[in-house]
Amino acid sequence: MAQTNLTVRIDEGIKQEAERLFNRIGLNMSSAINVFFRQAIREQAIPFELRPYDDYFFGARMKRIAHGVVMSNETIRTIMSRYSCRAFAGETPPDEDLRTIAEAALAAPSGGNRQLWRIIVVKDKSLIGEMDDEGMKVLAAMPDKSMYERIKGRGGGLFYNAPCMIVIPIAQAVPAGAEMFDCAIVAENIALAATSLGVDNLICGLAALPFAGEKGAEFSRRLGFPEGYGIGLGVLLGYAKEPGGKPHELDYGKISFVG
Ligand SMILES: Cc1cc2nc3c(=O)[nH]c(=O)nc-3n(C[C@H](O)[C@H](O)[C@H](O)COP(=O)(O)O)c2cc1C
Repeated sequence: MAQTNLTVRIDEGIKQEAERLFNRIGLNMSSAINVFFRQAIREQAIPFELRPYDDYFFGARMKRIAHGVVMSNETIRTIMSRYSCRAFAGETPPDEDLRTIAEAALAAPSGGNRQLWRIIVVKDKSLIGEMDDEGMKVLAAMPDKSMYERIKGRGGGLFYNAPCMIVIPIAQAVPAGAEMFDCAIVAENIALAATSLGVDNLICGLAALPFAGEKGAEFSRRLGFPEGYGIGLGVLLGYAKEPGGKPHELDYGKISFVG
C-alpha cells in the first residue's frame, strides 16, 4: 500500500510521555499511531473507553498542568488529588487496603535507612474516641484557647469521626529532629497510598495531643509503642462523609528555576 505522511499537532508533554511509554513497549511513534488506526478500523470504534475526567480534573489545578503528564500519569494524579478529609463517615476501609497502605508506609525512605518508626493501624473506634477526648482535654487546658475553639467550631473533635488511624511512633534520632523528617515522609506515603486506593485521609499532627495528657502513657502501652518510642504523627483514614473534597490551591509563585 502506498505510504503517506500525517502531521498532527500535539502537546509537547503528552508527546514526550507517550514516546517514553511506546519506547518501553518497543514501538516508535509512527508504529504506535499505526496500531491505533488499524485497531480503530478493525473495531469500527475508538478502541478504548472514552470517559470524561471528573469535575476535579477539569479544575484549575489540572488545567494548569493537564498538557503535561497529569492526564496519563497515575502517580501525579494521586499526588494532585490528595486532600485533607475533615469529616469521615463511619465505615472502616477493608483490611486488605489497610495492609497495602501500611506496607506502602514501610517503603518510605529514611535518613541512613534507620527506619526509626513503627506503623500501628488502629481500628478500635472506641480507643480512637478516647484519644480524641483526651486530646481535647489537653487543648482545653492550654492557656491559649484559640485552637480549642477552632476545633470545636469545626465539628468538635481532633479526629473528625475517623474510623481508623495509623499511629506512627518514632524513636529519638541522633542528631535529634531527623526522625521527624522520616516520620513525615512515612505519613505522606500513607496519605498517597490511601488516596490511590480511594481511602480518604488526613495527616494529623494533633494526634500527639492525647499522648501529652494524663492518659498518655496508657495510650502508648495500649498501642504497643516499643520502649523509647514517642508519638510522631497520626494519619486518619476512612471515607469522606461528602465525597469530592478539594486540596489547597497551588501557589505556582513558589517555584523558581535556577540555570
Ligand atoms: C505534618 C502535618 C500535620 C497536620 N496536622 C493536622 C491536624 O492536626 N489537623 C488537621 O485538621 N489538619 C492537619 N494537617 C493538614 C493540613 O492542614 C493540610 O494539609 C493543609 O491545610 C493543606 O490542605 P490539603 O491537605 O487539603 O491540601 C496536617 C498536615 C501536615 C503535613
